[in-house]
Amino acid sequence: MDKPKVVLGVSGGIAAYKACELLRRLTESGHDVRVVPTASALHFVGAATWSALSGNPVSTEVWDAVHEVPHVRIGQQADLVVVAPATADMLAKAAHGLADDLLTNTLLTARCPVVFAPAMHTEMWEHPATQENVATLRRRGAVVIEPAVGRLTGVDTGKGRLPEPAEIFEVCRRVLARGVREPDLAGRHVVVSAGGTREPLDPVRFLGNRSSGKQGYALARTAAARGARVTLVAANAELPDPAGVDVVRVGTAVQLREAVLKAAADADAVVMAAAVADFRPETYATGKIKKKDGQDPDPIVLVRNPDILAEISADRARPGQVIVGFAAETDDVLANGRRKLERKGCDLLVVNEVGERKTFGAEENEAVVLAADGGETPVPHGPKEALADTVWDLVAGRLR
Ligand SMILES: Cc1cc2nc3c(=O)[nH]c(=O)nc-3n(C[C@H](O)[C@H](O)[C@H](O)COP(=O)(O)O)c2cc1C
Repeated sequence: MDKPKVVLGVSGGIAAYKACELLRRLTESGHDVRVVPTASALHFVGAATWSALSGNPVSTEVWDAVHEVPHVRIGQQADLVVVAPATADMLAKAAHGLADDLLTNTLLTARCPVVFAPAMHTEMWEHPATQENVATLRRRGAVVIEPAVGRLTGVDTGKGRLPEPAEIFEVCRRVLARGVREPDLAGRHVVVSAGGTREPLDPVRFLGNRSSGKQGYALARTAAARGARVTLVAANAELPDPAGVDVVRVGTAVQLREAVLKAAADADAVVMAAAVADFRPETYATGKIKKKDGQDPDPIVLVRNPDILAEISADRARPGQVIVGFAAETDDVLANGRRKLERKGCDLLVVNEVGERKTFGAEENEAVVLAADGGETPVPHGPKEALADTVWDLVAGRLR
């Protein structure tokens, strides 16, 4: 089988050097990559690097190898075009259909999915001109990854940083795997909770659970690749931030509730994949709880935590908002899941059987998605991203 053809467009931002790692990941995972830098990009990383790493010729202009008509051919033959970094200038050109170099011509002739990973100073990103260009590109079906927050070119920090190449690669992989031209969650805001809450007993101890956050992160990553604006409320997950996802870090169930309610206010869908503690210690000892000679330890009194899933399902922040819950069951999985779905009042409930091979922290999952309207969608054993895509298929169907 032919290798998937990827065009890596590189425009003239300081983050151009990070595109070398993205290129490496793409070639090493079996893609045929044609790098199309702009003339400005070559001020940052030279053509020799792109050519040697990709194994393909590199040019910036439409006037090289004219007999091959590269200004049309490269775009037409591509299975995916990813522009990383995408400068403010490149977003403007793409939004307005300019075609004054090889990359802008390629963007006009490509009929495959297109991903932009913008990187620039915060002021440039926030400027209404850039924001309108991004909105135009998204409306036309491009996936524009939100920049990350962090250190920028100089000593300043803010929003505008290129997400990590590994995470841009994940978006590319997802977009290629689905092969969709129109990202079906474009223009939607989705909230995903992930990880496991920790309820402190004293400054060094907590009651927690084994949730790794991998399923929630897979949901966030796949939603971003399908064009959504994603807020990920992450409880104690030690995983890299997915590209283009706003990550809000929390510790306890009460903090998770606050963050979810805030983000859900304008959300089209909320997926509660986090393992939220049902109970928390009634009291918190400000100093470490000590052993007392000859005495049994004091019992720990627990109080109930808020039921966030039931709360947001009963009191929807927006009409038509889709709410999805997760349930881990050990036995009588479907019957217990149905009862839980009714009790919580959400639209969809992803029911996992917890047991051997299906433990927390695994890379794979197996589940049944129960719907309030009686639907039942089994998801066979497979990567957590496959389950995530099934959830988004069902959510997107309801949003339509
Ligand atoms: C040191 C330096 C760093 C730059 N970094 C960025 C950047 O990160 N993002 C951006 O949009 N423009 C950046 N620019 C400005 C672009 O290079 C400039 O707008 C250029 O015209 C972009 O051309 P292109 O879009 O054809 O690559 C930078 C310029 C310089 C000199």
